[in-house]
Amino acid sequence: MSEETYIASNFKEFPDRFDVTWSSPSNIALIKYWGKNKNQTPKNTSISFTLSNSRTITIVEFTKKVSHTTKIKFDVYYENKKMDSFREKIDIFLNKILKYCSYLNQYNLKIITNNTFPHSSGIASSASGMSALALCIMSLERKLNANIDYHFFHEKASFLSRIGSGSACRSIYGGINVWGKHKNIEGSTDLYSIKYPYDISDKFRDYNDTILLVDTETKQVSSSDGHQLMNKHTYADSRYEIAQNNVNKLKSILKNGDLNSFADLIEEEAMMLHALMMTSNPSYVLIKPDTLNIINSIKNYREISKIPVCFTLDAGANVHFLFPKKDMNQVKLFIENELKRFCKDQAYIIDKMGLGPLQL
Ligand code: DP6
Repeated sequence: MSEETYIASNFKEFPDRFDVTWSSPSNIALIKYWGKNKNQTPKNTSISFTLSNSRTITIVEFTKKVSHTTKIKFDVYYENKKMDSFREKIDIFLNKILKYCSYLNQYNLKIITNNTFPHSSGIASSASGMSALALCIMSLERKLNANIDYHFFHEKASFLSRIGSGSACRSIYGGINVWGKHKNIEGSTDLYSIKYPYDISDKFRDYNDTILLVDTETKQVSSSDGHQLMNKHTYADSRYEIAQNNVNKLKSILKNGDLNSFADLIEEEAMMLHALMMTSNPSYVLIKPDTLNIINSIKNYREISKIPVCFTLDAGANVHFLFPKKDMNQVKLFIENELKRFCKDQAYIIDKMGLGPLQL
């Protein structure tokens, strides 16, 4: 598919008003996207679990403009308050996608958005937020063109989400997602994410992810700046090669359900991501002492209990604690008795692999 496929054209009738609501989840990468090209395509393939409870719910009210202007017009509300601080990112996004969604120019957009997780939790909301907004826009496109099928709707929603935030494109489908071309994953592409196309062992069904909240402050270095630092990183080329190999390894693990190998691989990816931050120029550190306390506790617990729990990290200090559903009761006690004390205000979010976005 080329990018031209997504240019919408030939709409004749524009309804005066169209309202739509989507709830879209966050996702956590197992094989990390870290490093990108200018057009927000990734330097390597990434694979993620779509989450279930950590979501953004976005309503968009499209009202037809009275007089035609070429400037995109919108307002954003978050938790019932007008949020001018969100404007810049959304403005850039809408202007970038205008080439593919020229119909947006016909409307004033009122974007009303809420997260199911606390704003101050330090959880990145760009994946859930950008995907929810892209889905609302695709609903308008489908209203204007009834011929759009399920497949195109989701593909273009992922394509648009990617332009907003790379990782957001992996939130369009439930389960496991793949973004970025890989020679051993059929249908994979840099332009959008696909649902993982191969068999997955039952052991991964409803896999749990408890997000241990270590730091809820805004990060000192944004993901976008982190990606930039990969452009002249000493280890960049080796990283991209290792990531492509790790995709092959994960493919076998997802099939054979070897949870100990899963733990080793997923933790290697998490630590490599942060090692890349620590060795970039300038270098920076996003993990905190309690991140390390949690990591060490998880490793000890795995050793002693023989339950194949493991952790992963995104670009921050919080820890995603992954474990099989069948061990939930026992692991819950470990979280309460051991891990909770390392969390800010003892807070954590219980989540698991989910089914993907929902139109409400
Ligand atoms: C560490 O998707 O937030 O979470 O494309 O600049 O918006 P932009 O970056 P973003 O990067 C996510 C990086 C990561 C790893 C991952 O989710 O794969």
